Amino acid sequence: MKTVFSLVIGCIKFILFKFERMKHPRRSFLRNSAIAAFSLGFAPLSGKTNALGDSNASETCDETTLDLYGQGPFYTANAPVLVNNQLASANEPGTRLILSGIARSLDCINTIPDMLIDAWHANDAGTYDNTGFNLRGKTYTNEAGFYQIETILPGKYLNGASYRPRHIHFRLTPPGGSMRITQLYFEGDTDIPGDAAASVNSGTYDATARTIPLVLNSEGKYEGTWDIFLNNGAVSNGHDLHLETGMLYSASPNPFGTRVDFHYGVFRRARVAIQVFNMQGSLVADLEEAQLKPEKYHAVWIPDSKLPQGIYIAVLKVNDLQVHYLKLIKRD
Ligand SMILES: [Fe+2]
Repeated sequence: MKTVFSLVIGCIKFILFKFERMKHPRRSFLRNSAIAAFSLGFAPLSGKTNALGDSNASETCDETTLDLYGQGPFYTANAPVLVNNQLASANEPGTRLILSGIARSLDCINTIPDMLIDAWHANDAGTYDNTGFNLRGKTYTNEAGFYQIETILPGKYLNGASYRPRHIHFRLTPPGGSMRITQLYFEGDTDIPGDAAASVNSGTYDATARTIPLVLNSEGKYEGTWDIFLNNGAVSNGHDLHLETGMLYSASPNPFGTRVDFHYGVFRRARVAIQVFNMQGSLVADLEEAQLKPEKYHAVWIPDSKLPQGIYIAVLKVNDLQVHYLKLIKRD
């Protein structure tokens, strides 16, 4: 049992190490779903994965911070739930922005499904809709903790003598957890240094992790990834139990192209499968279940060559229970 526990801790450190490396990859938007041709096989491993036990990784993630300006004066309650993740309608003036990410507990691993995300921001001209719900809406993280919002880059507006940097307001409410109100900023915004809230780089209102890079995709849309970390004890505790049954140690390379190598562990005899889903929750790859004994395993996935770029999630399924997830990024 002690050996298994040590293995789990080692694996957690390894996954944290991998997440650290994934902070700023080039990301692309998944345009549509497609079933990929799938080639995957089980093969038990011998020996240790050399990245296990990485000493540079921490075992917790910092909670997504509050914003110094709090909610601000322009919140409107009862915004509608978004349709197809569209916060901005197709004809909304401005530069399109696709924001996505995953909500996780403070252990950095367990995801938070069904988290309420209430977002609002100014239009391209820097004006809020204070009478209706334009550029205001709610969405929820999916069963894997992912969310996606398509909108426009918010405009800037004067706050005293200076402009506030572009920003999106959020009220984040995990199921059974308390609401967290904050704001998101974008790297390279020249008005960040002069903004009392966006320039905070330490402490309770540290905006550093809430200032994300944007990448312009081939469609002329900006894309950004913002992962959210919240204290969500109830969900986290449940998933911690699942990690006693199995774990995805790694998926490499990540970002991936024509092949993904999964390394994973099964800690009790069970029916085991690996599945891959796109951001819309559609299954794009599925390994036929096999009865496996406790062991380390290696599996190979050869995605269909037409699989679109974007974010995917690999799931380790043990006895019909999705016990562990890894985020994958398909590159050019
Ligand atoms: Fe604002």
